[in-house]
Amino acid sequence: MNEHVSPDLIVEPGGADTKPATVKGGVHTPTNHDSAHKHVTGRAIYADDMALPEGALHAYLGLSTVASGTITSVDLSAVRAAPGVVGVLTARDMPASNDISPTHLHDEPVLADGEIHFHGQPVFAVIATSRDAARRAATKANISYAEAPFARTVDEAREQGLGLVTKPLTLERGNAQAGLAAAPRRIKGRYTIGGQDHLYLEGHIAVAIPGEDDDMTVTSSTQHPSEVQHMVAHVLGVPSAAVTVNVRRMGGGFGGKETQSNQFAAIAAVAARKFGVAVKIRPDRDDDMITTGKRHDFVVDYDVGFDETGRIEAVDATFAARCGFSADLSGPVTDRALFHADNTYYYPHVRLQSEPLKTNTVSNTAFRGFGGPQGLVVAERIIEEIAYALGEDPLTIRKRNFYGPKDDPEGRNITPYHQTVTDNIIERIVAELEQSSDYHARRDAILAFNARSPIIRKGIALTPVKFGISFTATWYNQAGALVHVYRDGSVHLNHGGTEMGQGLNTKVAQVVAETFQIDIDRVKITATTTDKVPNTSATAASSGSDLNGMAADNAANQIKDRLIDFAAEHYQVSREQVVFEPNVVRVGNQRIPFPDLVDQAYLKRIHLSAAGFYKTPDIHWDRDKGTGRPFYYFAYGAAVSEVSIDTLTGEYHVDRTDLLHDVGKSLNPAIDTGQVEGAFIQGLGWLTTEELWWDDKGRLRTHAPSTYKIPLASDRPAIFNTELVAWSVNQERTIRRSKAVGEPPFMLAASVVEALSMAVASVANYSVCPRLDTPCTPERILMAVERLKSDAA
Ligand code: MTE
Ligand code: HPA
Repeated sequence: MNEHVSPDLIVEPGGADTKPATVKGGVHTPTNHDSAHKHVTGRAIYADDMALPEGALHAYLGLSTVASGTITSVDLSAVRAAPGVVGVLTARDMPASNDISPTHLHDEPVLADGEIHFHGQPVFAVIATSRDAARRAATKANISYAEAPFARTVDEAREQGLGLVTKPLTLERGNAQAGLAAAPRRIKGRYTIGGQDHLYLEGHIAVAIPGEDDDMTVTSSTQHPSEVQHMVAHVLGVPSAAVTVNVRRMGGGFGGKETQSNQFAAIAAVAARKFGVAVKIRPDRDDDMITTGKRHDFVVDYDVGFDETGRIEAVDATFAARCGFSADLSGPVTDRALFHADNTYYYPHVRLQSEPLKTNTVSNTAFRGFGGPQGLVVAERIIEEIAYALGEDPLTIRKRNFYGPKDDPEGRNITPYHQTVTDNIIERIVAELEQSSDYHARRDAILAFNARSPIIRKGIALTPVKFGISFTATWYNQAGALVHVYRDGSVHLNHGGTEMGQGLNTKVAQVVAETFQIDIDRVKITATTTDKVPNTSATAASSGSDLNGMAADNAANQIKDRLIDFAAEHYQVSREQVVFEPNVVRVGNQRIPFPDLVDQAYLKRIHLSAAGFYKTPDIHWDRDKGTGRPFYYFAYGAAVSEVSIDTLTGEYHVDRTDLLHDVGKSLNPAIDTGQVEGAFIQGLGWLTTEELWWDDKGRLRTHAPSTYKIPLASDRPAIFNTELVAWSVNQERTIRRSKAVGEPPFMLAASVVEALSMAVASVANYSVCPRLDTPCTPERILMAVERLKSDAA
C-alpha cells in the first residue's frame, strides 16, 4: 500500500466495498472489454456499419491545391455535372455560420471562404448518390488562386512573422536568469520534436439524419459529442436542443476526434438539411490525414544551469510549436507542454515560455498527452546533457533531481506552476524497476559489449514519468451519468464519456455492478448520446473513468439509497440491516434476490432512475498568474529500454523494454495493462519512425501508411515486460482509488530515445551528448553517428 496515504482515507467513494470484489466483473478485476469479442469478430457496429435510411446521400470534400492565398475563381460546373451528383456546398451554403472554432477566436471555417490557409483545406463539399460518385466528382473542380508566401515550419513561421494563434503562457518560479548566471555549469541547446498523425483505425465519419421541425440527429465518430452538437446547432442556426449526437464507439480517437469531428458533422448536417435526407461523409485515409490536425511538433531552446554533482539550479526554455493555421486546442496543448517540462524533476529557478506559432499547415490538435510528452522529452534531454557533461550514468542524474517527498525539508517539491507535489512515488517506482530489470548489471554488460563491437552498438536507459491529471480548463472536470434499474433487476447505464477502445464503458459498468453488488452482465452499456447526458466534456485528458465512473457511482448510489430506505421501512429493520451482497440484498435475516427487491420497490412506487453528477474537487488554475493547482493528482511510471543500432546504416531494434506503471488501485488490471502497452508502442512510433513531411509546395506528402510508418507488430520490443505498480493507491478520493491511465504511459517511450542516444554516444566514447532530434528515424541515427565520428576525426 502507498505509505503516503493515511489509512483513514481509504474509504472508497460510493460505499463500503473495501472487501475483495465477489460479483462477476466487479472493480479491480481483469474483466474483459465488453466489446472485445465483437471487435475481433466484426460484429461491433461502427458508424460506417449503420444501415442508412432510404434515399441517403453521400458527401465528399474538395480540397485546396495551394498552401496560402486567396481564391480568385471557382468553377464547379464539372463537379455538378458529374454522374450521381445532386449538389455542392460552399462556405456560402452554411445556413447560419461557417465557423467551427472551438475557441472564441472564430478562426476556423467549415469551408474556405475566400482565403486559403493550408494545402488541402476543404473548399467545397459535393453531395452525390454514392460515396464513389461524390469522391470522383470532387476531383473535377476548377478553382484558381492568387498564391501567397507560406510558412510550414517553426523557423519559417518566425522568419515570416506570421505571429501566434493564441496567447502564450509563461511559468516562472524563482529567478531563472540569476540562477543560470550563478550556476557552476551551464549548457544551452535546441531540441526539435516531431509531430504525429493519429492513425486511428476508423477514420472520421458522420451521418446526419434530418427530423421534423429543426431536428437533426448525427452519428459521429467523436470524443466530444456535446461539442459536435453545439457546432452543428451553431452552423445550422438552431438551438442545441434540436440536435442530438450519438456515439456508440470509435475505432480509436487518441485526441484526433476531440475537435476534428466538427467539420465532418457540420457538413453532413448542412447537406442533410438542404436535401432533406440522411447524408453520410467519410473521407478516405489520405484525405483524413491531409485535412485533420495532428500532434504539435516543437522546437525547444533550453538553457540549464547545474552544479558539479549534476543537480539542476536553473532552467530557462522556450517551447515554439507548429500550431497550423488556427488556434484549435493549441493554447492548452502548449500550456501542457510547459506543465510537463519538469517531468519528475525539481527546478529551483525556472522560466518556461510557450510560443504557439501560426503556420500554413493543417491546424494541429489534441493527441494523447496533449503537449505533455513534448515537454517531458525536453526534461529528459536536459538530464542527458548534464549526464554526458559530467560523465555520469544519466540515471544517477535523474535520481539526484527527483522531486522530494510531501514534506521535503528543502522544499524540493514545488512545480514551476507553484503546485506542491504531495503524492510523489517516483523514487520507489524507479528503485523497483532498477532491480526487476537488472538495470545496472545490464548497463555494465552493454558498456563491455560496445567496447568490443565495432558496428553494432547497444544502449540502455531508464526514464521516469510524472503526468498531471485533470483538464487545465477547470470547468471541463465534470461529468454526468444516467442509470435506470428495470423491474427485472437489469440496469441501463449511460454516461457522458465515449468509448474509443480504451475500455471506459467496461470500467464504468464495473463500478455500477460493484455498487449494486450485481454481476456485470446485468448492466447494459449504452451509446453515448447528448439527449441522455447533456453538456459533457470531451473524453480526453485521461479523465474518462475518473469523471464518468464517479458520476455513474453517484447515480447508482442514489437508487441504492432509495432501495435501502424502502427495504428498511418495508421490512421494519434499520438501514444498517440492509446490506447489498453479491446479487442478493440481506434485509435483517432474509436474503432477497436483487431483482425481487427491485420489483417490490417498484410496486411501492420507488423511483428507480437517477441522474448522477461529479466534479473534481480542489483544483484551480490562474493562467494569467501561472499559479494554482491545475492537477488533482499525478500518475507516475518508469521504463527501461535496451536497443541495438547498426552504426553503418542507422537501423535499430528495441531488444527489451520493462515498464512499471502506476494506475493507483487499478479498476481493471487487464484493460490497464493493455493501455500501458498500447500507449508505450504509440509513443515509440512517435519518437522513432513516424515522420510528417511537407514538400516545398506546402503539401503533406506522408498521408498514408505507405509513407507514414507506424509501429508494426515486429517493431515491438523483443522482450516486453509490463507491470502495474501493485502497491499504489490514489491518495485522492478518486473512483475506487484508481488513477487515470490513458495518456501517462505514452511517455514511457522516452526510454527508447535515450537508449538510442547512448548507443550513438558510444561511437565517441560517451564524451558527447548526441544531437538526436525526434523522430529518431534510422536516417537521424546514422547522421548522429556520422557527426560524432567526424567531430572525433
Ligand atoms: N485507447 C484506445 N484503444 N483508443 C484510443 O483512442 N485514446 C487515448 C487513451 N487510450 C485511446 C486509448 C487517449 S488520447 C485518452 S485521453 C484516453 O484513452 C481517453 O480515455 P479515458 O479517459 O477513458 O482513459
Ligand atoms: N489531454 C490532456 N488535456 C486535455 C485534453 C487531452 O486530450 N483535452 C483538453 N485538455
